[in-house]
Amino acid sequence: MPLTDDEIALMRASVAVVGPFAGDMTVYFYAILFTRYPQVRTLFPDNLDVQRDRLLRGLLRIVDLVDDPESLVHFCGRLGRDHRKFGALNGHYPAVGECLLAALARYAGDAWTPELSAAWAHGYDVVARVMMHAAEQDAHSRPAVWEAEVVHHVHRGHGIAEITVRPDAPYPYAAGQYASVETPWQPKAWRYYSPAHAPRSDNTLTFHVRAVSQGQVSQALVYSALPGDVVRLGPTQGDMTLDPESDRDLVCVAGGTGMAPIRALVEQAARNGIQRYVDVFVGARTAEELYGLDDMLRMSQRHHWLSVRAAVSHERIAGLEGTLPQVLSEFGPFYQHEAFLSGPVDMVTQATTTLTRQGIPPDRIHFDPFDVPALEADLMPRRTRDEAGQ
Ligand SMILES: Cc1cc2nc3c(=O)[nH]c(=O)nc-3n(C[C@H](O)[C@H](O)[C@H](O)COP(=O)(O)OP(=O)(O)OC[C@H]3O[C@@H](n4cnc5c(N)ncnc54)[C@H](O)[C@@H]3O)c2cc1C
Ligand code: HEM
Repeated sequence: MPLTDDEIALMRASVAVVGPFAGDMTVYFYAILFTRYPQVRTLFPDNLDVQRDRLLRGLLRIVDLVDDPESLVHFCGRLGRDHRKFGALNGHYPAVGECLLAALARYAGDAWTPELSAAWAHGYDVVARVMMHAAEQDAHSRPAVWEAEVVHHVHRGHGIAEITVRPDAPYPYAAGQYASVETPWQPKAWRYYSPAHAPRSDNTLTFHVRAVSQGQVSQALVYSALPGDVVRLGPTQGDMTLDPESDRDLVCVAGGTGMAPIRALVEQAARNGIQRYVDVFVGARTAEELYGLDDMLRMSQRHHWLSVRAAVSHERIAGLEGTLPQVLSEFGPFYQHEAFLSGPVDMVTQATTTLTRQGIPPDRIHFDPFDVPALEADLMPRRTRDEAGQ
């Protein structure tokens, strides 16, 4: 049964109340989950200090989705399919729901009423059903994870490695999507990486991975992985793909290893034999960090429809100086374009603002920002934020 407007309003208001305590709430949520249901501890990474708020933030994001059946089925369906790689089973859902409600009750304080409790129970149930159903359907057609052997590993400088893996079974994906990867060095720690090319006939995938400081998975992939090692892949995610029906020109903005999915999209566009123009803007802090520029420039020599421009934000270089959004605003107008943005979240946010000002409607601006898990959002629901700003 769909949620009522009252239930949705109650849930949204309560997320605004607990938002400031999100950190403490995460600690409490995991503490009671692992105490009451010790059997689920093995599903989670040993080190829950980093990115540990992913699950709880995802749970609270329910409030963004409950009154929008299309998004609910889209996001939660995908989430449910993706949860197969974590080893989540139908029997685990009541446990997680119970602990979510207990955590909410504790941090909502006086705001926690029987009506609010019932609204959350209902909302959780709706989402959990969609996720479980999607996971069951998915299990009929594909594995939960793919074992993938590292077949090539090349250091490209500045802590970046190009890593090619070969999955043990056909691995479906579209250019612009990203895969989740688990390494043998950090079991249960899943991170996202984007193949830097359109799908290949030999079923191999090449990732461009930058080792971030103290990074559990990226350091292992860049400095420990060798040919012969086996990593695990979850299913691909992401909607940053080309619409084969569209003939709009493209504007692409890439920061750092955000170049990987942009490169994949350009390769796919070339393969589609498109009759449209593609403008790629590549940004970094220094010229040395302009990752993938030479490769992209070589591609532009082969394809007359491809233009590539660089932006360097922390160095004075004539013709290149500026942040990506600044350089972007000097070109265009792009209001008739389809936009694809990939890289650090600040860059994506600013580029979105620039392109929106130029007149591109939101449904034609596609992005999967790097620094936050795909389904993560601010704890305060969008509507409440907008209202607060008014
Ligand atoms: C949709 C998507 C696609 C992505 N594609 C790629 C890709 O193609 N290539 C790639 O190299 N990375 C990519 N990432 C980032 C990647 O998933 C990891 O977040 C990154 O490798 C860090 O993981 P880690 O385990 O090494 O670091 P963690 O152990 O999780 O974090 C260690 C420290 O680094 C910080 N940190 C985490 N992520 C980043 C980051 N991206 N930049 C700077 N500091 C960070 C954390 O806050 C923490 O302090 C993508 C992320 C998303 C959401
Ligand atoms: C309505 C129910 C649920 C929702 C909305 C939900 C949502 C999420 C989200 C958004 C993430 C982060 C994904 C990512 O960033 O890659 C996540 C991670 C995870 N979820 Fe769920 N989840 C639910 C139920 C469950 C259940 C029942 C289990 C099983 C115990 C589970 C186990 C996990 C695990 C192990 C992770 C990875 C955590 C980490 O890497 O730190 N989830 N969940």
